[in-house]
Amino acid sequence: MRKKIVAANWKMNKTLQEGKTLVNAIISGNSNVDVTKIIFPPSLFVTEFASSIKENAGFFVGAQNCYHTESGAFTGEISASAIASCGATHIIIGHSERRQYFHETAEQLKQKVNLALKHKLVAVYCVGEKLNERQTNHYFTAVKNQLQEVIFHLSESEIKNIVIAYEPVWAIGTGLTASPEQAQEMHAFIRLAAAEKYGISIANQISILYGGSCNAKNAKELFACADVDGGLIGGASLVAEEFLQITNSF
Ligand code: PGA
Repeated sequence: MRKKIVAANWKMNKTLQEGKTLVNAIISGNSNVDVTKIIFPPSLFVTEFASSIKENAGFFVGAQNCYHTESGAFTGEISASAIASCGATHIIIGHSERRQYFHETAEQLKQKVNLALKHKLVAVYCVGEKLNERQTNHYFTAVKNQLQEVIFHLSESEIKNIVIAYEPVWAIGTGLTASPEQAQEMHAFIRLAAAEKYGISIANQISILYGGSCNAKNAKELFACADVDGGLIGGASLVAEEFLQITNSF
């Protein structure tokens, strides 16, 4: 059975003190032990949060990004090995904000995925079409390309350490959510693409998360879709009660 996952992408929000308060509230209010919860705070907080959650089953901490080479003279960047050495177990790769604002290319993302897996991090790889690709009916092609260019070179054992997050760019932070039908259609398409490449049994083990204005009001109907295994939550993950309600929406 594939894992049910709710992941919190805090993006560039919260101070250390605010973050600690939020993590403590989430841990103490947690009631759904069947759901894997991954907190993606700003990287500076990873060490501290990893040690504070380690006694709490089902909780993990990850980073939102890493650099695409192993180490070296890249002032201000953070390596996958440094992230792993701080207790992180997961990493987000290919978020649309990274692709858009930091011009990350498919080749760089592929290198990041390779480094993440090398350092035993589970990679949450984000895919999703832009608004014009949705409107011109190119959304399947856009997502298939993102899968092929960045993760479909992985071996059968490596792909098991990938979680895929489908995040239509037009839904991120906009208050527009994909309908359950739109989400299910794309999630089934992604699973089929994985099945064509790796076989149905492996494809059925890959968790595929929905992201894009997912919140406590709409999570239930999204998570009820057969191929939606949870969510990657931005804005709604910044408030403990809202995030906890989402974790209870299966
Ligand atoms: P949002 O962000 O929930 O605020 O739309 C989701 C994401 O970017 O991961």
